[in-house]
Amino acid sequence: MKSEQLKQWAHFFLTYKFALDEVETKLNILNEEFQFIHDYNPIEHMKTRIKSPESVMQKLRRKGLDITLEDAKAHIRDIAGVRVICSFSTDIYHIVEMISKQSDIRVVELKDYVKNPKPNGYQSIHLIIEIPVFLTNRTEHVLVEIQIRTIAMDFWASLEHKIYYKFNEQIPPHIQQQLKGSASMIDSLDRHMLALNEEVQKHREQALK
Ligand code: GTP
Ligand code: MG
Repeated sequence: MKSEQLKQWAHFFLTYKFALDEVETKLNILNEEFQFIHDYNPIEHMKTRIKSPESVMQKLRRKGLDITLEDAKAHIRDIAGVRVICSFSTDIYHIVEMISKQSDIRVVELKDYVKNPKPNGYQSIHLIIEIPVFLTNRTEHVLVEIQIRTIAMDFWASLEHKIYYKFNEQIPPHIQQQLKGSASMIDSLDRHMLALNEEVQKHREQALK
C-alpha cells in the first residue's frame, strides 16, 4: 500500500475511535445522572474495541466486497463497538431508550435477542447507531455497534464464544443442547434477580416513608 493510502486508512480508523469516545462519554453521562437521580447505576461496566484493519479487510473479502474505504464505511457496521453490561434486564431497555432519544444519534438497526434469543440461546440487544464526528474540516457520520446485555447473559456469551472457536465453529450437538439449557438457566436467574431487586427497592421505599 502506498503511504498516501496508508494515511487515508489510518485517518479512517481514527474517525471510528472518535465516534467510540463520544458514545462512551454519552453512556458515562447517562450512568452518572441515573445514579444521581435513582441512587443506582444501570451500567455495571463497559468495554470498547475497534476492529483491526486486518479483520476489516478480511470481512470485506469474505463478503465479496472491494478493499476500499467506501465499501468498509458502507458495509462493515461493527468497526467501532461498545459492549454495555447491566445488572438487570430492565436496565438494558433503559439504556436503549436513553441512547435512542438523543437528537444527534440515529438508530440504524435494533436487534432484540433478549425478547427473541438466537436458536443457540444467545441473548443481547444489538444497536447500530450513527453519530456525527466533527473533524477539522468536515463532519463525518460514523456507525457504532452497541451490544447491551446483563452480567449473566455476558457470562454465557463469553463461554459460548470460547467453545465455538474451540470446536472450529462446529459445536457437537450434545454440547449445543447443554449450552441452550444453560441459557435458559441464565434467563431464569436474570428474572429471579430482577424480582429480588424489586422487592429490595420496595422495602427501601417503605423504610423512607
Ligand atoms: P457479524 O457479521 O458477525 O457482525 O454478524 P451479524 O451482522 O449477523 O450481526 P449479529 O447481530 O448477529 O452479531 C454481531 C455480534 O454479536 C457478533 O460479532 C458477536 O460479537 C455477537 N454475537 C452474535 N451472535 C452470537 C452468538 O451466538 N454467540 C456469541 N457469543 N456472540 C454472538
Ligand atoms: Mg458484527
